[in-house]
Amino acid sequence: MTPDWFPVHWLTGLYPWTKALHVISVIAWMAGQLYLPRLFVYHCAAAPGSEASETFKVMERRLLRAIMNPAMIATWVFGISLLLTPGIVDWAAGWIWVKVVLVVLLTFFHHLLALWFKAFRADANKHDARFFRFMNEVPTLAMIGIVIMVIVRPF
Ligand code: HEM
Repeated sequence: MTPDWFPVHWLTGLYPWTKALHVISVIAWMAGQLYLPRLFVYHCAAAPGSEASETFKVMERRLLRAIMNPAMIATWVFGISLLLTPGIVDWAAGWIWVKVVLVVLLTFFHHLLALWFKAFRADANKHDARFFRFMNEVPTLAMIGIVIMVIVRPF
């Protein structure tokens, strides 16, 4: 049974703003998801304790804490607001379910990036540059899939 508060009718007038803020947050989140693994690739070449390594730690911390964490939260808040807006999502369509799976994957990947960030911070990284170059493809492929789902809506 659908609860009384669903869908949330006052969100209708806000719809263009909610969508604009969702896309702005997505861009900031994706910028970080694509750039942080690349920083890890370069960080692998810097000896622990070196000046370069300490500089990478500062760049990684700022990217994760000041941009990616708030952008991920904002993406979820505005994305869920869009889901709650009357008439926007037809749950009988397939695309929304594929999108939800890919977004959960991106959120999981964000947490993996945070774990790798902590390992670098403690000079305890166990992976090589090839690993991070490979991992760089995960957000790229997920983002391509999500954009095709929301724009093309193939099923
Ligand atoms: C975090 C959880 C997310 C939720 C709950 C969510 C949900 C939604 C919903 C319900 C819409 C509205 C579709 C419409 O207006 O018809 C939307 C639009 C959109 N989403 Fe998300 N989304 C999320 C994350 C993402 C991510 C990670 C990306 C990109 C990588 C993304 C890209 C987009 C784009 C580009 C649109 C605009 C599509 C259009 O022009 O109609 N979303 N999202």
